[in-house]
Amino acid sequence: MAQTTHIGKLTHSGARSFNPVSKAFHWLMAVIILVAWGIGYYGGGMLHYGVSDAETAQKIWAINLHKSIATTTLFLIVARIIWRAYHRPPELTDMPAIMKLATHLGHWSLYLLMIAVPLSGWANSSSAGYKIPVLGLFTIPQLGPKNPALTPYLVEAHFYLSWALLLVVVGHAVFALKHHFIDKDETLTSMLPKQD
Ligand code: HEM
Repeated sequence: MAQTTHIGKLTHSGARSFNPVSKAFHWLMAVIILVAWGIGYYGGGMLHYGVSDAETAQKIWAINLHKSIATTTLFLIVARIIWRAYHRPPELTDMPAIMKLATHLGHWSLYLLMIAVPLSGWANSSSAGYKIPVLGLFTIPQLGPKNPALTPYLVEAHFYLSWALLLVVVGHAVFALKHHFIDKDETLTSMLPKQD
């Protein structure tokens, strides 16, 4: 078991307080995931290979951009999990046990999907034998040998997992907004840059 060196605290007003590094991971990954999702949807879902040379070229460009941005989440999620193992977030504020359970389940689903979505993308690209670019700077090795027979299944897995991730992210944001505008507590602001 990892030794926890820091546990997030409550401020004197009773709000939860997150470490600045935890906040940076949270917002950086949120932005990258949403941008990668949009470009993946545009390239994967709206454009088709072989319809015209222009559409094929546009699709290749979009998918390469998608991979180049989204692969960064593979590095970030590893760093984030290591960071979190040593810096536990503050306890949840007072709420019914069922809400606590739902909150924990939501957060666990987010972590699992933040691993499964880029891994399934990496696997589908690897099975098709494509290069996996990271920010246009370098490439990472393929996950396994080229096996085009597997590609359609892995593309489908990536498709469903990426929709599941979007749903959980949207649900997470809706609950944060509910805390802010309806419950009028400091759940949302505790994750914003200024609050420490
Ligand atoms: C957080 C990370 C990621 C998110 C949110 C994400 C999301 C998406 C979405 C929404 C699509 C469109 C699915 C469709 O409509 O068919 C897509 C397609 C695709 N993604 Fe990702 N993805 C991520 C990571 C990756 C990674 C790391 C790779 C590869 C290294 C990758 C490779 C692909 C490929 C090749 C397609 C196109 C599949 C096709 O041929 O239609 N993705 N992604």
